[in-house]
Amino acid sequence: MSKTAGTEEAIKRWDAYADTYSKNHTEQGDLHKEIFLNPVLFSFMEDLRNKKVLDAGCGEGYLSRILSKFGANVTAVDYSSRMVEIAKERTPNDLLIRYIKANCEDLNILKDKSFDLIVSNMVIQDLANYEKAFQEMNRLLVDGGSLIFSILHPCFVTPECGWEKTESGEKLYWRVDRYFYEGAYEQGLGDKEKMLFFHRTLTSYINTLIKTGFIIERMEEPMPSNEMLKKYPSFEEDFRCADFIVFKLKKQKEAKTQ
Ligand SMILES: C[S@@+](CC[C@H](N)C(=O)[O-])C[C@H]1O[C@@H](n2cnc3c(N)ncnc32)[C@H](O)[C@@H]1O
Repeated sequence: MSKTAGTEEAIKRWDAYADTYSKNHTEQGDLHKEIFLNPVLFSFMEDLRNKKVLDAGCGEGYLSRILSKFGANVTAVDYSSRMVEIAKERTPNDLLIRYIKANCEDLNILKDKSFDLIVSNMVIQDLANYEKAFQEMNRLLVDGGSLIFSILHPCFVTPECGWEKTESGEKLYWRVDRYFYEGAYEQGLGDKEKMLFFHRTLTSYINTLIKTGFIIERMEEPMPSNEMLKKYPSFEEDFRCADFIVFKLKKQKEAKTQ
């Protein structure tokens, strides 16, 4: 697998994995979304009633459906045809979500300044050209609009990482290597499926967000709440190291030209 493998290869794999992936999702997403991501994403959102919201990389659509139930006017894009099909199948007729098959790196089918909020949950690390995606998201937001996105934590989930264990299987510590590598790498998700992810350093993420016109408003490295730990005690180990990072950004107002 080459370092420069790109979007088309990544999406081919998402298409093939879409049915298996979706089986793990309830209307709260999978367990990681229920425990770690949803509480932070929702705490970053304001009143969504009548707000125009884009779900960028919607997958099987659980988040789009929640946002729509919160009263938002939701458009949802995903570049995998099968994901879009499943999302449509899972969406009841009374939720008026506009699903479109589209690449987050080129959203020219959508008009400038047409969204108040863009949410992108666990998608940006799947994009070969994340700078282009941030440019597109900036173009699509109204002045002062918000982008909320989550990714695998780039400091801890690197192309070479995992638990270091004793012979009897006890977890000693989380090992991290190849942090400064930037580009494509493979990661197993299911039993046999290897997905294509793209690693960048935290510095690259932050500098690219600033370059593409965003201001950082909030950031969170989610941990399980006490309530979630009672429900899912095995997630206690997630106090040792962060798997995810979530950002809230604001589109910088354009400087007025005379
Ligand atoms: C980890 S899943 C997350 C799905 C959804 N946001 C959720 O939280 O359940 C990543 C999704 O990104 C989509 N994706 C990957 N590359 C994409 C691209 N270039 N443009 C749009 N969607 C893409 C995949 O098809 C997949 O549905």
